[in-house]
Parts: sequence; C-alpha cells; structure tokens
Amino acid sequence: MEKTLVLIKPDAFQKHHTGDIIRIYEQEGFRIVAMKLMQMTRKLAAKHYVEHIGRPYYDDLETFMTSAPIVAMVLEGEDAIARVRRLNGKTNPAEAEEGTIRKLYAESGSRNAVHASDSPESAAREIHIFFNETELFD
Ligand code: CDP
Ligand code: MG
Repeated sequence: MEKTLVLIKPDAFQKHHTGDIIRIYEQEGFRIVAMKLMQMTRKLAAKHYVEHIGRPYYDDLETFMTSAPIVAMVLEGEDAIARVRRLNGKTNPAEAEEGTIRKLYAESGSRNAVHASDSPESAAREIHIFFNETELFD
C-alpha cells in the first residue's frame, strides 16, 4: 500500500467541485487517511513548491495557491502515487485525457484543480508538510 498527498486547489474548491473530486478517488478504491480544509500561507506554498521557485510562473502559482481555501488529503491504495496522477490527468487540461479530473474541472494549466505527489520521495516529504502523525488515520 502506498500513500500520496492530494490538494484540491482554490479554483476547484471555489467552484464547489470538492465532492465530485473526492468521489472519483473513492470510487477508484482509494482510502482517505487524512483530510483538512485550510488556506495556504505564502511560506507553506514555498515549502510545498520549493522546486518551482524561480520559474517564470512561480509568483502567479504562489498567489493562486494562497488565494482561497484548499482541501489537503492523504490517499492510500495500491500504486497510489501513479494511479492518482493518472486520474488527475496532464498538467494542462487541454492535453488531459477524457474523464480525468483536470479534463473535467481544470480552468487552465495553472488553475488546474488538483495536485498529487509525483514520487515516493515527494509523497513522504509533502504528506509531512500538511499533516503530523496524529492526523494520519492508518
Ligand atoms: O502539478 P503537476 O505535477 O502536474 O505540474 P508541475 O509541472 O509540477 O507544476 C506544478 C504546478 O505549477 C502546476 O500544477 C500548475 O499549477 C503550475 N504551473 C504553471 O502555472 N505554469 C506552468 N508552466 C507549469 C506549472
Ligand atoms: Mg509536480
């Protein structure tokens, strides 16, 4: 069993797609082991997106991610990291496959509805940015 960090980003939360998105993950068999509604600070956004600092889109990304609440959650399941990334679809919704969360709900390649960890190392790092051990219901 593998765990991955998912964020429902401000665009999807504000358009009331939280329930639709969680239903997609649960129907695929993923178990929610942690979840919270929160608003990211700039400091938290910089920690989470550290590898993107300095890129041309970074300032807009930080402004967007801190603009409204997000839902942070940890999902558990077999091969969860790769499978959740496939359910989310490509970063740019114009390139995302039919039926993926980004194809269904993303506005653009920046305001793209969801985040999910991309490797076991990033999952371990990202989960502990948002949750402590007592908040994980294994
Ligand atoms: O989220 P994902 O792993 O699919 O994409 P990424 O390349 O790791 O980029 C992280 C996030 O930065 C994206 O999901 C977008 O919200 C944002 N981004 C952007 O606004 N413009 C880009 N050219 C690339 C990424
Ligand atoms: Mg990424």
